[in-house]
Amino acid sequence: VDVLLDLRFPIGGRDELEHALRQAIMSGALPAGTEVPSTRTLAAELGVARGTVGAALDQLAVEGLVEIRHGARTRVRHVPRRAPAVALEPAATAGATTDTNAAARAVADFTGGDPDLTQFPASWWASAVRRALASAPVATLGYGDPRGQPVLREALARYLRRTRGVVAEPERIVVTAGFSGALAIVARALAGSGSSSVAVEDPSLWVHRSILGRSGLAVTPIPVDADGVMTSALAASAVDAVVVTPAHQTPTGVTLAPDRRAALASWAADRRVLVIEDDYDGELRYDRRPVPALQALDTSRILYAGTASKSLAPGLRIGWAVVPDEWLDAVVNVIDTLGGSPVSAIEQLALADLVDSGRYDRHVRSMRAAYRRRRDDLVAALDGVASGVRVEGVAAGLNALVRLPVDCDETAVVDRLGDDGVLVTPLRRFRVMSSPDDTPGIVVNYGAPYAHRIRDDIATLASALRHALAGSRRR
Ligand SMILES: Cc1ncc(COP(=O)(O)O)c(C=O)c1O
Repeated sequence: VDVLLDLRFPIGGRDELEHALRQAIMSGALPAGTEVPSTRTLAAELGVARGTVGAALDQLAVEGLVEIRHGARTRVRHVPRRAPAVALEPAATAGATTDTNAAARAVADFTGGDPDLTQFPASWWASAVRRALASAPVATLGYGDPRGQPVLREALARYLRRTRGVVAEPERIVVTAGFSGALAIVARALAGSGSSSVAVEDPSLWVHRSILGRSGLAVTPIPVDADGVMTSALAASAVDAVVVTPAHQTPTGVTLAPDRRAALASWAADRRVLVIEDDYDGELRYDRRPVPALQALDTSRILYAGTASKSLAPGLRIGWAVVPDEWLDAVVNVIDTLGGSPVSAIEQLALADLVDSGRYDRHVRSMRAAYRRRRDDLVAALDGVASGVRVEGVAAGLNALVRLPVDCDETAVVDRLGDDGVLVTPLRRFRVMSSPDDTPGIVVNYGAPYAHRIRDDIATLASALRHALAGSRRR
């Protein structure tokens, strides 16, 4: 096919070509089913390297816009489906909308825990998988060590020490299905060894509470304030373990204060309890003040767990835990009971390749810069929306807690945003204990929208929030 691409010659590079092709597909100029000319033809016509065309198409394939099939022509896959325009009426005329199926007509979706999936380094991953298949000894394809591939555990030990200050010997590292997989394994190990209750931060991610509860453990909420989890309340409890997010609390975004870090470690040592450190987004801090992991304070009591879900993609289901000696046998037993290492050996080797080659660092660095810009844009866009609206927490991660004016009704605001096609998570979803005096808030995952939409999505959120707040005062 012949199509007019919106390009300036000479073409700057992959980004520009990718952008032009994306525009052509999204606008319908290249409809679904269209065969894309071969990379050779496109490269010759546009005067760029074949590799540039290939990389641009790989990226569009990751975004679901084209389908690349071995031995067949690449085809356009995307069917343009324009989201309905958001009718942002002036506050005075804003009324209840009749459409309740908000999810189906979402214009901007800030819910869930995904990072920007279009930024997954697909070609690096593909070449790492290819290298793993070409160079790994055949024994790699056997059942293997339940803790995971030694090559990955060694790579992680070096990486975690270098970037997070974690004291990690490869023998004590287990590869898990993300942080949740690690938590599920540890919860079973705890329950199997006679533990009955685990403390969690309040507010915190409901999924983790449910994992603990389903493993037969009672969950005790411990309040979080501006300095993180309240260690005084923890000391007054009689739990066997605690799950904490010290570097960047979910969802408040605060960092555990230095005195509380020390108090937590000495409480764990005195009571001989297990601290489960959830470092899910520890690499994504934007203000040049990274907080080292807690784990080095007491490697015998603190189990460190991390994940590739934010740095790469949650669909990989790869995470890791550095397990205190005392818990290692119990943890490995649970993994065995569940069928062995939960992550494919090849994917493990691919991750080790990414880490050892420095590409993981490079990817994290570039994503850190991109998410930092998003957060800055969000803060700027929400500034002045209404008094009492402010982004809380340190500049880190993919989520921001946006506090709302104290006199507004959180549920009504979230519903009104939904009516305008803007999806966010109400803060109450994260709470265990709630009271009518709670400051209302919404949790915004600014990491999830795809790169080509994020600016529009943030602007849409800001105007929809202004509109929603205008009609959602608490009685
Ligand atoms: C607090 C917290 N921990 C961990 C994770 C990552 O979970 P997983 O590694 O299982 O994908 C998330 C993802 O949203 C999270 O919010």
